[in-house]
Amino acid sequence: RGYIFQSSEIYGGTGSVWDYGPLGVELKRNLKDAWWRRMVRMRDDVEGLDAAILMHPKTWEASGHVDGFTDPLVDCSNCRRRFRADLPEVADGQCPVCGTRDAFGEARQFNLMFKTFMGPVEEDANVVYLRPETAQGIFVNFQNVVTSARQRVPFGIAQIGKAFRNEITPGNFIFRTREFEQAEMQFFVKPGEDEEAFEYWKAERMQFHRSLGLDESKLRFHPHGDDELAHYAKAAFDIEYEFPFGWKEFEGIHNRTDFDLARHEEYSGKRMEYIDPTTNDRYTPFVIETSMGVDRSLLVVLADGYREEEVEGDERVVLGISPKLAPVKAAVFPLVKKDGMPEIAEKLSAALRDAAIPSFLDASGSIGRRYRRQDEAGTPFCVTVDGQTTDDDTVTIRDRDSLEQVRVSTDQVIPWIQERIR
Ligand code: GAP
Repeated sequence: RGYIFQSSEIYGGTGSVWDYGPLGVELKRNLKDAWWRRMVRMRDDVEGLDAAILMHPKTWEASGHVDGFTDPLVDCSNCRRRFRADLPEVADGQCPVCGTRDAFGEARQFNLMFKTFMGPVEEDANVVYLRPETAQGIFVNFQNVVTSARQRVPFGIAQIGKAFRNEITPGNFIFRTREFEQAEMQFFVKPGEDEEAFEYWKAERMQFHRSLGLDESKLRFHPHGDDELAHYAKAAFDIEYEFPFGWKEFEGIHNRTDFDLARHEEYSGKRMEYIDPTTNDRYTPFVIETSMGVDRSLLVVLADGYREEEVEGDERVVLGISPKLAPVKAAVFPLVKKDGMPEIAEKLSAALRDAAIPSFLDASGSIGRRYRRQDEAGTPFCVTVDGQTTDDDTVTIRDRDSLEQVRVSTDQVIPWIQERIR
């Protein structure tokens, strides 16, 4: 339908990289806007940031990614394929492709960061990395934001941006990819106040997902055990969704302590501590991080909204996503191509465009088929211009989910829709 295409499809695709088509880009943008609105615009204690993808390579030494952001790999000496050593069959000694037993060599650590070179000379001194998380752009800008935005701890910094990981076992469509987007927020607090902030952000982030209209029975927290905790974390919870392929994480909430700021102070030689202007207390703040995968959350929205059902004896496919996320908010149909209906539909369509409400004018095929096409694309409202419109200046608006139809004055269509997509 124009949601997601394979990257470079005409060349056979690129491994685990995807492109968002006309509908997909709107859905993704609406999801990011909902996050930004709630996390930045509607708060006075979170500032926005847009840091670059390429950073000083020392960043990744300080963060622990150069040494520690690795997966153990083994090669099968029979089929020469390479696998993650911690896959269950591989750990059991059997090759998942050719089935040979005990054909694996020693496990080697493989770094997941993409490397490239800055400038024209390809030598070790010029190595830079594509960032594997957006978080470090926030840490290195901590002092810049404190001084320029005049924020006082506790406060947060949020950003949305691309991240890259050379995953060995990507898959499940856009669930695990090599290029993806993160929406991350680091909340800086006084040490000792971290546990309370952690509980606050856990609840707030779950509330965000509920506000998108997701099925609550498919959302849950998963606490990290000691064996799952990342090197920087004192405590962590995942927010999981029950995908058709099982319960999986799509957001992480981490108590990163003062690990990152302290390491950047050590590696850069620049002070990362905070001085409280009223008490003159000096300390390195602790950080509570909320880290949502944008693409993975989009997959949650698609999986949650998709349903197949029977309506009046007809099969229909519906993408029942929240009207505030839907890419196209309204479709406009002239019932027939005569009696002035196409002209009224055109006018309505132009008014929707002027109001920046994404809409689609469709005059072809039976009305039933036009409804089905919009149901499949997730359009919440279909506006039909019919014989009565020329008499009393009203149109029908049909709801995608309840199938109910109401008659609304033509000049009230825009406020009616605006109220429901906020
Ligand atoms: N800054 C912390 C951090 O990056 P993470 O648990 O590695 O933590 C956070 O990643 C989120 O980013 C995940 O919950 C997931 O939604 C998303 N993510 C991570 N790797 C991904 C991948 N290869 N493809 C798609 N999304 C990914």
